[in-house]
Amino acid sequence: MRKKIIAGNWKMNKDIHGTATLIQELRDRLKDFRGGAEIVVCPPFPSLVVAKTIIGDAPIRLGAQNMSHQDDGAYTGEVSASMLAAVGCTCVILGHSERRQYFKETNELVNAKVKKALAAGLTPIICVGETLEERESGVTDAIITTQVRGVLHELSSGEIEKVILAYEPVWAIGTGKNATPEQANDVHRHIRKLVSQMTSWNVAEKLVIQYGGSMNAQNAAVLLAQPDIDGGLIGGASLKSDAFMTIIQAAAEAVSQ
Ligand code: 13P
Repeated sequence: MRKKIIAGNWKMNKDIHGTATLIQELRDRLKDFRGGAEIVVCPPFPSLVVAKTIIGDAPIRLGAQNMSHQDDGAYTGEVSASMLAAVGCTCVILGHSERRQYFKETNELVNAKVKKALAAGLTPIICVGETLEERESGVTDAIITTQVRGVLHELSSGEIEKVILAYEPVWAIGTGKNATPEQANDVHRHIRKLVSQMTSWNVAEKLVIQYGGSMNAQNAAVLLAQPDIDGGLIGGASLKSDAFMTIIQAAAEAVSQ
């Protein structure tokens, strides 16, 4: 049984005060949590240090939402993998569709970032997903194949073993319209098969593939019950501690069944 990992992508929400409040609330709610799912929060850059301090010894991993593909130097406005590791991040979201859409990130650039993240000891949470137009034209699997092959290009099996993939259909992000459990699981299975061809079944079977796109307190349990859905990358519903906690509980229950 693969572990389930629930990650909150806060996007451009919560300043340091809002971060402190939300993490404190999560800490309080986690006091009764018996485990069974891994938890990650990804606040904006200026909140990472405060987030780390308040997380303390709570079972919450800290992640960032993006990073540079460069190590250091004259890259105004950028943040490196080692800087994230130094403030206590253990994860970083890479290739989110909002970065692809608004900041023109390509599979090649995401691939370069993945390599830097791994070299710094960070777990990359790498996002892939089709647009509505692509789904309606029946090219979902082809798009996902290109993205997965692109972002994992030239990675060894040992490196691929360390990544998390997140399937986020673009049409489901922030729309309130989630993929059905079957639609999501079909793509997850496709991704796992593809990764098995690039590595081995052994690696593919252990790979954590999260679903993201309007996952919330109501639909999390059915999505997480699918055999190939190993967690969630949550946007809107990760900004409220009660909703996020319900999703975490649903993941823990899915593992125990
Ligand atoms: P929503 O959960 O708000 O749809 O966002 C999903 C997402 O983009 C997570 O990375």
